[in-house]
Amino acid sequence: MKYPPTDTREIDAGQYTPLTPDDNVLIMTHGLPRSGKSTWACSQARPIVCPDAIRLAKTGLRWFGPIEHEVWATARTMVRALFLAGHKTVILDSTTGTRKQRGMFLPSPDVPWQRYLKVIPTPRDKCIFRALSGPYPELEGVINFMADNWEPIQSEEEIISDWGGNSWPPLDFMKP
Ligand SMILES: Nc1ncnc2c1ncn2[C@@H]1O[C@H](COP(=O)(O)OP(=O)(O)OP(=O)(O)O)[C@@H](O)[C@H]1O
Ligand SMILES: [Mg+2]
Repeated sequence: MKYPPTDTREIDAGQYTPLTPDDNVLIMTHGLPRSGKSTWACSQARPIVCPDAIRLAKTGLRWFGPIEHEVWATARTMVRALFLAGHKTVILDSTTGTRKQRGMFLPSPDVPWQRYLKVIPTPRDKCIFRALSGPYPELEGVINFMADNWEPIQSEEEIISDWGGNSWPPLDFMKP
């Protein structure tokens, strides 16, 4: 049987069988700050794991470096727990512009998932315009840093598919 159980007697009997990769889809947003990742995620009516929201919930702050490791550990645990709870599709609302960040969301052997990337192709200048028009103009520096250091997807190596039919691989929109 699979978890979550349809008949709790099965799990009581220790007959737990790990989920298979086909069961679960993790959609990771892929775009600069202010590109519209959260707007898209909220429009999907699916559970969202958002490191920015986790950071805010833990600290009350938009940014607090010393507990960053906890933020990401919690995000991974939330992904695993949402699949274990029975969700079939989970959205990770994050920039995912580095291999390190994407690497934190590789599937687990016991709770496997397929990974997809939802490209939010808003260009850098538009993201900066939105940042400068809003309450956090300091995001301009973050946007420039991320765009300058964006690490392209190696889809064969990283085993990530495209979600939603945007251009793939999504390299050009990160250039100034
Ligand atoms: N498709 C869109 N067209 C026009 N404006 C949009 C669109 N999507 C989002 N926006 C606007 O852009 C701003 C940033 O959107 P959003 O918060 O979704 O971006 P984000 O990528 O999640 O940003 P952050 O990385 O800072 O969390 C918001 O003011 C939002 O209303
Ligand atoms: Mg957001």
